[in-house]
Amino acid sequence: MDLYEYQAKHLFGKHGVPVTAGEVCTTPDAAHEATRKIGSAVVVKAQVKVGGRGKAGGVKLATNPMDAKGKATDILGMDIKGHTVYKVLVTEASDIAEEYYVSFLLDRANRSFLAMASVAGGVDIEEVAATRPDELAMIRVDALEGCTPEKAREIVEAAGFPEATRAQIEEILQKLWRVLVEEDATLVEVNPLVLTPTGTVLALDGKVTLDDNAHYRHASHADFVDRDNTDPIELRAKEFDLNYVKLEGEVGIVGNGAGLVMSTLDVVAYAGEEFGGIRPANFLDIGGGASADVMANGLDIVLNDPEVEAVFVNVFGGITSCDAVANEAARLPNRRQQRS
Ligand SMILES: Nc1ncnc2c1ncn2[C@@H]1O[C@H](COP(=O)(O)OP(=O)(O)OP(=O)(O)O)[C@@H](O)[C@H]1O
Ligand SMILES: [Mg+2]
Repeated sequence: MDLYEYQAKHLFGKHGVPVTAGEVCTTPDAAHEATRKIGSAVVVKAQVKVGGRGKAGGVKLATNPMDAKGKATDILGMDIKGHTVYKVLVTEASDIAEEYYVSFLLDRANRSFLAMASVAGGVDIEEVAATRPDELAMIRVDALEGCTPEKAREIVEAAGFPEATRAQIEEILQKLWRVLVEEDATLVEVNPLVLTPTGTVLALDGKVTLDDNAHYRHASHADFVDRDNTDPIELRAKEFDLNYVKLEGEVGIVGNGAGLVMSTLDVVAYAGEEFGGIRPANFLDIGGGASADVMANGLDIVLNDPEVEAVFVNVFGGITSCDAVANEAARLPNRRQQRS
């Protein structure tokens, strides 16, 4: 699960990574009030789970509460790359001398973790990576050793951060590593990490991806689930612990095993071409060894989708008992009646 900037910063704060004070607002009046409380110039920032907010006009400086209210009016409701802005973060504006980049991420290809750091932070780190790769230090971090003080020093030296900032950035790197490990994240990124004119280093932006497989270990992460922007059927499926993804089509799909379900989607879409573009309505993997209950919940989810005209069940026998699944499927006509 990707987090919003304000959620990422909440985790940063919890682990002692310095961030600016701020408040999440859903209305222009709330932005006015938040700015009044902060008592200085602020930056009003669109909260969407997509990069490039600044360039799209979703990050704006405001000098006083009225100004913040106006900026929030402009930004709330804006569409940024297909994501509607429902919330803004109103946060203290910071004076910036330099902008850096740091991140830790799971490097699947190398079965390890990777630290990335650069003095050329700011909005365009992807471009730095593509055109000036020597300005982006990449250091492997062993999962068991973690970001020790020695590792933090190695990263800071490889990136070439100015001498005066090194101690602070080393400290921040170790704390960000703690965010990664203790919160079970697969990505922790700060862009920009800024140096203020008075010599303080702090995180002005934050991006965190949590590992959904570890969700059960963190009761507090349930608050991060985004109810406004998630399809209601997907939310219900999550409550049932089902691997469900809503698609745009008419044929509900129930299968066991992600590979089998993916192939079923392909085959249904392929066959549907002959009938004017009939498509699968969803991905739903009930998993190996699914019980009748899981099948029943799965059918409920699929049939809750008003687009669904038919259901295709493709369950491979073996660890799943097909008679249990078939019994539930046989009740399908009743379920449909219940629905209508
Ligand atoms: N609190 C702040 N004070 C001053 N300037 C800020 C503040 N927050 C952001 N900025 C400026 O705005 C720029 C863009 O902000 P930010 O990094 O949060 O958004 P973004 O990079 O456009 O979005 P994304 O990270 O989603 O691509 C920063 O590089 C920084 O120069
Ligand atoms: Mg950024």
